[in-house]
Amino acid sequence: MNYIEILKKGENFLKNNNVKNARLDTELILSKAINRKREEILLNINKKINNKELIKFRTYLLRRIEKEPIAYILGFKHFWNYKFFINKSVLIPRPDTELVIEETLKLLPNNKSIKILDIGTGSGCIVISILKERPKCIATAIDISRKALNVAKNNAKLHQLENKINFINIDIDKYKSYNYDLIISNPPYINSIDYNRLDNDIKFHEPKVALSGGFDGFRVLKKVITKSKKLLKIKGKLILEIGYKQKSRTLKILIENGFYINKISKDFSGIDRCIISTKL
Ligand SMILES: C[S@@+](CC[C@H](N)C(=O)[O-])C[C@H]1O[C@@H](n2cnc3c(N)ncnc32)[C@H](O)[C@@H]1O
Repeated sequence: MNYIEILKKGENFLKNNNVKNARLDTELILSKAINRKREEILLNINKKINNKELIKFRTYLLRRIEKEPIAYILGFKHFWNYKFFINKSVLIPRPDTELVIEETLKLLPNNKSIKILDIGTGSGCIVISILKERPKCIATAIDISRKALNVAKNNAKLHQLENKINFINIDIDKYKSYNYDLIISNPPYINSIDYNRLDNDIKFHEPKVALSGGFDGFRVLKKVITKSKKLLKIKGKLILEIGYKQKSRTLKILIENGFYINKISKDFSGIDRCIISTKL
């Protein structure tokens, strides 16, 4: 079978199993199976697939119809300007989270050298993207999940930042190193009702610890704010990603903990997504 025939078969198989974006996913899956770029497939549509490649292609298609996200099958995801390794131990980086990067870079002049803490680093996509853009900074990245930290460490190596980021496997509750200039966090913030309503792709494949913020969605978010109050220098900044309808309560918790609210930014869908505040 040549590429064009195999693409048609794959696309039909995914469509018949109710996978959205069946054509795109088939192209990506074929490119992974034959270890070539997607564009190369389209330029060589008459080339034949060998047996080994065909077995891989089928295996990936079967994973996709089980609703495994395409990013886990491919093993990477693009975020900001960079490529990140990912696996099932980490949340797939989301485009909305790029807002955190945008806001951080606006605050941080190119030549400034500051100390950053990333709480709940996951794949490391936030802290690594910031350090790539601001190479004079240094950072600590913590996560409660050891497996997630391993992925983040590999991503730091991939981007030649392993000497600039200190990775620590710890619950934010227990972390006790002070004097940060900037803390950033995209904590798990989905409440239990919304968690149960998530698409199966997310609920059955992405780690619960990365998504669930407990009954009201604030379990980790609250801890991040109360701890940041202690870990930041005076006038240090806290940049948080929050969920749908979490603005008012987050602002209240921030103000109760002595933070001044600098800015609230909306994501592409017009939802309040990122809060920038200063420790007074
Ligand atoms: C929403 S994910 C964010 C991952 C990554 N920063 C991103 O934006 O794609 C939240 C991360 O927080 C970690 N986490 C959850 N509870 C935590 C806690 N109590 N202390 C430290 N990290 C925690 C999870 O393991 C997960 O990697």
